Amino acid sequence: MTEIGVAVIGLGFVGGKAHASSVRRIDGANLVAVSDLIVDRGQKFVAKYGCKFYQDHLEAVKDPDVDAVIVSVPTPYHYQVAKDAITNGKHVLCEMPLTTTEEQSIELKDRAQEAGLIIMPVLNFRFTPNFLKAKELLSKRVIGSPISFTFREFIPAKDLALQWPPSSWAWDIEKSGGLPDYTLSVWSIDLIQWLFDSDIEEVHWESNFSPIEGVPDFKGYQTIGCARLADGVVGTFQFGSSVSEGMGTTQLEIFGNNTKTLRAVWNNKLELLGSESENQEWSFELKGPRVWGHLQTDQYFVDCIRQNKVPEFGVEEAIKVQQIAKKMVMD
Ligand SMILES: NC(=O)c1ccc[n+]([C@@H]2O[C@H](COP(=O)([O-])OP(=O)(O)OC[C@H]3O[C@@H](n4cnc5c(N)ncnc54)[C@H](O)[C@@H]3O)[C@@H](O)[C@H]2O)c1
Repeated sequence: MTEIGVAVIGLGFVGGKAHASSVRRIDGANLVAVSDLIVDRGQKFVAKYGCKFYQDHLEAVKDPDVDAVIVSVPTPYHYQVAKDAITNGKHVLCEMPLTTTEEQSIELKDRAQEAGLIIMPVLNFRFTPNFLKAKELLSKRVIGSPISFTFREFIPAKDLALQWPPSSWAWDIEKSGGLPDYTLSVWSIDLIQWLFDSDIEEVHWESNFSPIEGVPDFKGYQTIGCARLADGVVGTFQFGSSVSEGMGTTQLEIFGNNTKTLRAVWNNKLELLGSESENQEWSFELKGPRVWGHLQTDQYFVDCIRQNKVPEFGVEEAIKVQQIAKKMVMD
């Protein structure tokens, strides 16, 4: 099978740290080019990986050595970059939120379908080792029937202020479709719907954005959502960026009707909790983009292209997730 030539467009937090380094390590792909508005950022990848660099994404999507692009520019520019890629015959793996309007997402889906190309959203929590194990255990009914869940994701205030300072696109609600709590909720909302194989039918969000002592010009948030899924499972989401370094966490608990609980901590640990003698723990010693599922997502995208396979999830899932997250902006 031929090797897929990949271009990563946007080399910031996720494009630079997760996707570009992942593509180098996956089977059947070659990092042909990178693109970023910031020349220095691109040149670092040229020096490290020997790939081509384009400041203008249009040149990258027109490169005949490029078969597929990973769109990791800020959300407001996904639509244009993805559209240009499809117009030039390239498959697209696009970061989330997919676009800023449902109409744009549907248009991209239709364009890709017409051109016989793949467009796949980055829903990386479907690929992380502990969530995959949790899905397997749920299907084996180790906790009986699930009744409820609690999901919590805390990013330290100082870290978020560094990643997305107040001037960042992520705080521009007009351009991005929501604030950072909206943007950062999409993977976890998808995770819950995928784990339970059931859609969230109702959700109500409440937020508190407050100035944070010691982090100038920054508003930390605590956003809480109460949800009901179509299969009757109820649960809460809590997204926070008001805490100190030691409090950063991702934690999911799922409570079953046989009194047992599954607890996932970060992306590399899973516990089954019952009476003490029944407790079990799984640890996954993976590092970097593999532990967050980006590497596996990129591998799956490349495999789908090489095997001429339709991905198991696509634009519909991205839209569903965004509709649920969007209620944060409206509630
Ligand atoms: N899957 C995940 O876990 C995850 C995590 C964080 C962010 N994201 C998503 O990834 C996307 C990017 O987020 P980020 O935090 O990396 O942003 P960022 O601001 O850190 O980086 C964006 C990069 O894109 C570049 N850029 C902007 N316009 C460009 C263009 N037209 N052509 C080429 N480069 C361009 C910028 O110069 C910058 O280097 C967002 O959609 C965000 O929601 C995903």
